[in-house]
Amino acid sequence: MLPEPPKCTFASDNASGASPEVLQALSDVNEGYSIAYGDDKYTSDLRVAMNTLFGKEVSTFLAWGGTGANIVGLQALISPWQGVICTHSSHINVDECGAPERFLGSKLIDIPSPNAKLTVDQVLDQLRVLGIVHHVQPGAVSVTQSTEYGTVYSVEELKNISNAAHESGLRVHMDGARIANAAVSLGCDIAEFTTEVGIDILSFGGTKNGMVYGEAIIVFDPELSEAVEYLQKQSAQLPSKMRFIAAQFLAMLEDDRWLDYARHANDMASLLAEKISTIDGVTITQPTQANAVFATLPKESIPKLQEWSPFYTWEGENEVRWMTSFSTQEEDVEALAEGIKSELGA
Ligand SMILES: Cc1ncc(COP(=O)(O)O)c(C=O)c1O
Repeated sequence: MLPEPPKCTFASDNASGASPEVLQALSDVNEGYSIAYGDDKYTSDLRVAMNTLFGKEVSTFLAWGGTGANIVGLQALISPWQGVICTHSSHINVDECGAPERFLGSKLIDIPSPNAKLTVDQVLDQLRVLGIVHHVQPGAVSVTQSTEYGTVYSVEELKNISNAAHESGLRVHMDGARIANAAVSLGCDIAEFTTEVGIDILSFGGTKNGMVYGEAIIVFDPELSEAVEYLQKQSAQLPSKMRFIAAQFLAMLEDDRWLDYARHANDMASLLAEKISTIDGVTITQPTQANAVFATLPKESIPKLQEWSPFYTWEGENEVRWMTSFSTQEEDVEALAEGIKSELGA
């Protein structure tokens, strides 16, 4: 007999609701009228705030969601005969229903990786085909930070990949659906592992960290920003009432709330990993560096535990994923760990 399940679900960080400050911001921004499509005060204030955050002038575009942000950014980076190097388990490769291939009209060059991180050698290996007309030409590298396996690229790793890419004329894209979790994990300014390592376009996530919806596309290279403006509209990613996304981001950036929320989520994941790592039958499969815990469990226990408290199985044999968020409570983590312990008879 399993104990009471946790009050929250660990299935995904976007299973959580929105933060109270974001909800307040949505209510405040609802007052009165604003010009649509981004020509409003909130979007303009956010653009200034993003310039401050990155320590330079960047171009900020606001999109409906993460898949949309990724496909807009990637389209600006490659030509039709070029492809995008990414990992096999990247969201763009396995979780976007082929949207990147459809919108780019080109290939994703997906590479297996045990921790969802690309290495510079893997990137260099793909560059062998440059100049050979029969092969799709690698035109961009896409890295996810933090990754789909809850791991985090170091500044050095990103710098090496980015330098190798740029030296051969490739561009670099970062899927930052969980960039706040990465920033907290690295303990450095966001600029240090994005624009300063040579990322050309970043999808800056908000939804998983406490917003209702909305992601930002941050373009670091001014040469690319005009293309992004048109691609955004053409890809159905230009929200007319953009101020509602801008206001949410402003609420998140205020007083570094986005980092506090991500820090909490990361801490809850570390606590969960600590609590379950000593249970017989549980093997943690990835370092817990952000807000995800991956582990293998005895096969027969998985459906029973999923029915008790939902979560997803992952790529490895009997591998499962638990995600924490800004709203996960310590007692939820304890309840989950107790349930696992009870099911495994430990
Ligand atoms: C790594 C990553 N990128 C992007 C997204 C954004 O997806 P969506 O289009 O659902 O907002 C997600 C959401 O799960 C994700 O995990």
